[in-house]
Amino acid sequence: MKHAITLGVNGQPYELEIEPNRLLLQVLREEIGLTGTKEGCAIGVCGACSVIVEGRLVSSCLTLAVACQGKEITTIEGLAKDGVLHPLQQAFIEYGGFQCGACTPGQIMAAKALLDENPKPSEEEVKEWMSGNLCRCTGYYKILESVMAVVNNKITAEFQFRKRDQQARIQSLDVYKSVARTD
Ligand code: FES
Ligand code: FES
Repeated sequence: MKHAITLGVNGQPYELEIEPNRLLLQVLREEIGLTGTKEGCAIGVCGACSVIVEGRLVSSCLTLAVACQGKEITTIEGLAKDGVLHPLQQAFIEYGGFQCGACTPGQIMAAKALLDENPKPSEEEVKEWMSGNLCRCTGYYKILESVMAVVNNKITAEFQFRKRDQQARIQSLDVYKSVARTD
């Protein structure tokens, strides 16, 4: 039998009819359509599915959606405001804190939960806190560097725009045109 629940997600209320065994991860992705939260291990080990519920970091793959009745949930989609990236999002871009990106929403949500509680953690505290978020690509140093860049206020305001300009310049050189010509 389905249950009627209300979830607040990124400041917006959602009224849903869901099976009692539906996980928060499934409801966010499949019912609400917020696919930024990723499924990795599905057993509470990798941290890819991390979201913030009422200020607490949780693994959405281990959380029943019905248990979140009436609660406020923040996902990666709720971080940018009015087209401006959250400092952590910007830092991950600027400091190369991701490669494939599968773990990145979870990494950023975990870091956000830490910085909300303690805006000036030491490198050791960041390492300890983030140890529940696995990454198969980056070797972790870049992730740590990204988080510490926010802690130490070392992100560059215009960084994204410089990158876009650079991309536009590369495209204007037409390097993507095929070089194998037969005529
Ligand atoms: S998918 Fe939830 S912890 Fe891995
Ligand atoms: S960036 Fe690929 S798993 Fe972390």
